[in-house]
Amino acid sequence: MRGLPAPVQYSPATYWEQRARRFAAEGGGLAAVCSYGMPAFYNRAIHREQCRALAPWLAVPPGARVLDVGCGVGRWSCRLAARGALVTGVDLSPTMIAQARRRAQEAGVAARCRFRVADLAALDLSQHFDLVLGVTVLQHILDPRALAAAMRAMGAHLAPRGRMVLLEAAPVTLQARCDSSVFRARSRAHYLELARRCGLELESLGGVDPAPFRVQILPYLRRLPHVLAWSALALTTAASVPVNALLARRAVARSWHAVFVFRAGGSCAT
Ligand SMILES: C[S@@+](CC[C@H](N)C(=O)[O-])C[C@H]1O[C@@H](n2cnc3c(N)ncnc32)[C@H](O)[C@@H]1O
Repeated sequence: MRGLPAPVQYSPATYWEQRARRFAAEGGGLAAVCSYGMPAFYNRAIHREQCRALAPWLAVPPGARVLDVGCGVGRWSCRLAARGALVTGVDLSPTMIAQARRRAQEAGVAARCRFRVADLAALDLSQHFDLVLGVTVLQHILDPRALAAAMRAMGAHLAPRGRMVLLEAAPVTLQARCDSSVFRARSRAHYLELARRCGLELESLGGVDPAPFRVQILPYLRRLPHVLAWSALALTTAASVPVNALLARRAVARSWHAVFVFRAGGSCAT
């Protein structure tokens, strides 16, 4: 395993900027935005699972206005812009944003993308969007007030009947041993309540990764000798790939991550 253990004290802006400086320029940038410190095969498996789970919701028409919150290196922004969407990506980290711009340029979609450094909790773009997308972002906002503010800001940027799509760690049964100083899995009920307070209506709830093997082994990896840890991870990842591919949509209740799809409805409670 490479990378650094999670810091004792989490300062989000510092943490994400350091992580971006270390990994965002590398390959597809997955080590910066998926699992920090994990081998490339592990992050590629996660990337494919997320692509599969999000595919129905990323099929936007050309010209759709999209806000990609916590956009990282622009994985989803570039994909959506390639479909003709007009994308605004925001992220806390200037290096993530620089990488997102570079990748949009390289993909030939820069004309349909704009990127900005911003904290979600204080986001005010004075603009509305047909789709607000957040992939594994809220799970890294640990302060409850910042989380509620981020959700309100995202809801406030939705156009009437606009759609919000969130992919977050939200298992049915919480296991605190998987949390770290930079990450918290929350119950589905928690996200549903946050959304309800923002006047959002649930349109769909989807699964991503119902295979239990990786979640079971993750908390113990750092205690194992490197070769053993790598082998155990390779085995569990290989076993997870077909299970997740076959069951993600059907075994939603067993999935560790969930895809929440909300529709803008009423007004946001303050
Ligand atoms: C796990 S990465 C996911 C990146 C991207 N959504 C993806 O799926 O490739 C989380 C991202 O959220 C950003 N982030 C975390 N807290 C944020 C906040 N309060 N405001 C804006 N961005 C934030 C981080 O800088 C990081 O790029």
